[in-house]
Amino acid sequence: MYQLAAYIHVLAAIIWLGGMLFLAMVLVPVTRSVGEPPGSGARILGSAARRFRVVAWGALIAIVGTGIWILLERGVYPMDLVRGKGWFYQTLRVKVVLVALVLALSVIHDFVLGPRLTRGLESLRGASRGEEAILRQRRVVSWMARINLLLALAILALGVMLVRGASF
Ligand code: HEM
Repeated sequence: MYQLAAYIHVLAAIIWLGGMLFLAMVLVPVTRSVGEPPGSGARILGSAARRFRVVAWGALIAIVGTGIWILLERGVYPMDLVRGKGWFYQTLRVKVVLVALVLALSVIHDFVLGPRLTRGLESLRGASRGEEAILRQRRVVSWMARINLLLALAILALGVMLVRGASF
């Protein structure tokens, strides 16, 4: 059972992190280079991002669920997370705090600022009023996505350190 939990945990991490990297490294540059008809690149990216939102939240729920499952299989209980001493618990605490941060940022990005930006971009079509404010929102949203990606990479490193220690 422990192996099954670890397998699903790593698989869900691959789907979540791999999807974010695919969006950033493949889909964003490709859709930026699509010029005709005007706005089609942004529409493709928007559809892909909305579809990925479902996948990413499914993966995040699976990661957190299997993370807790692994801990229980290892005999680690909620209070140990607060009281536990030593390398494993210190690393785990940092990991859990970063995961909480990622979840908070993702909620704001996916359900508040992202949809607001999409509405703004749609209402902007053809009009130039409010353009400056929308561009500012777009910068904020894309910085949040970058920060989330960096946090995800840090969490991945902590996952490896948790199991294998940190001697390089
Ligand atoms: C609250 C959330 C999380 C908890 C409680 C948690 C807990 C754990 C635990 C206990 C292990 C050790 C597995 C073992 O005993 O073999 C582990 C490994 C791992 N975690 Fe998490 N984790 C969480 C979130 C994440 C996230 C968001 C990622 C995505 C980057 C992630 C990626 C990994 C990876 C890749 C490993 C395997 C490392 C290896 O085998 O070298 N974890 N996690």
